[in-house]
Amino acid sequence: MARIGVLTGGGDCPGLNAVIRAVVRKGVNVHGHAIVGYHDGWRGPLVNRFSHLTPDNTSGILHRGGTILGSSRTNPFKEPDGVERIKANLAAERIEALIAIGGEDTLGVADKLGQEGINVVGVPKTIDNDLAATDFTFGFHTAVQICTDAIDRLHTTAESHNRVMVVEVMGRHAGWIATYAGIAGGADAILIPERPFDIEEVCRHIRHRHSRGRTFSIVVVAEGATPVDDGGAIREGGTDEFGHVRLGGIGVTLEREIEQRTGYETRATILGHIQRGGSPTAYDRVLATRFGIAAIDAADDGDYGKMVALRGERIERVPLGEAVAQLKTLDPALYETAEVFFG
Ligand code: F6P
Repeated sequence: MARIGVLTGGGDCPGLNAVIRAVVRKGVNVHGHAIVGYHDGWRGPLVNRFSHLTPDNTSGILHRGGTILGSSRTNPFKEPDGVERIKANLAAERIEALIAIGGEDTLGVADKLGQEGINVVGVPKTIDNDLAATDFTFGFHTAVQICTDAIDRLHTTAESHNRVMVVEVMGRHAGWIATYAGIAGGADAILIPERPFDIEEVCRHIRHRHSRGRTFSIVVVAEGATPVDDGGAIREGGTDEFGHVRLGGIGVTLEREIEQRTGYETRATILGHIQRGGSPTAYDRVLATRFGIAAIDAADDGDYGKMVALRGERIERVPLGEAVAQLKTLDPALYETAEVFFG
């Protein structure tokens, strides 16, 4: 029997509780381990805040959004003696291994702590789906479904009022959500961080569509998309401990520009954190459960420094370093598929 820690870091994401439940259920009932849940991401092991997780107190959480452990964007490498404090706290609690559920930042820390001698296993989480070495992260499917439902709703009101609707979705560095939801929702233009856009070209698509008798258009834009003639994405606030700026507002700029240039009445909707809230889809519940089981199995095997990953239909273990080396940007072929339907 070993004591295994688990934490959830970074932006929350539907399916986190499903991973925690799976780790606990198999960890306790099958492997006979004790599971310690650290609170609020890396802040938990840093300040030694945790609770004991059991099959009983993690029952009934499979379908619940958010994370029962809380989350934060705390970066221990930015805290005084952060690494030493984490090592001391884990040693005091006799934690054999730590399962970190997170995206590029949380798993980047896990990778570096692994190199410092801490036993870590990673689970890939982000609605953005921009983590390398896995085909999909859990949470992405749910976010895409939420965006698609929103686009469907915007369609009917756009049609009634002959309007252009701009829908701003999440996606700091990658256009996965925008492109998937745009294809699923029948978008007339999709703007993503990987491809700076020309506002005149966007307007051309809209004018062309309207010249064919259509009276409304849908434009999906990722929050990190930028115009070709501009320096950077539109910021809403300061930076977090990993140096990320808070994005948001490109949709409103587009609303103004499109209306001025085309003369068509335009409205913007920023979906924001609605994309991260609420219940995971069935697909994400299953993926998150498989990841949780695979992670506790890796910890039980002592196969540390790995991230569990979806490769095709299978869950595999890949080096954490491979997952955080670089972001997984959108597959250009997928964008080409979407483009066929523009304008
Ligand atoms: O990393 C996931 C994500 O949802 C991004 O798409 C978005 O830019 C960011 O988190 C928002 O972060 P916060 O919840 O801290 O505002």
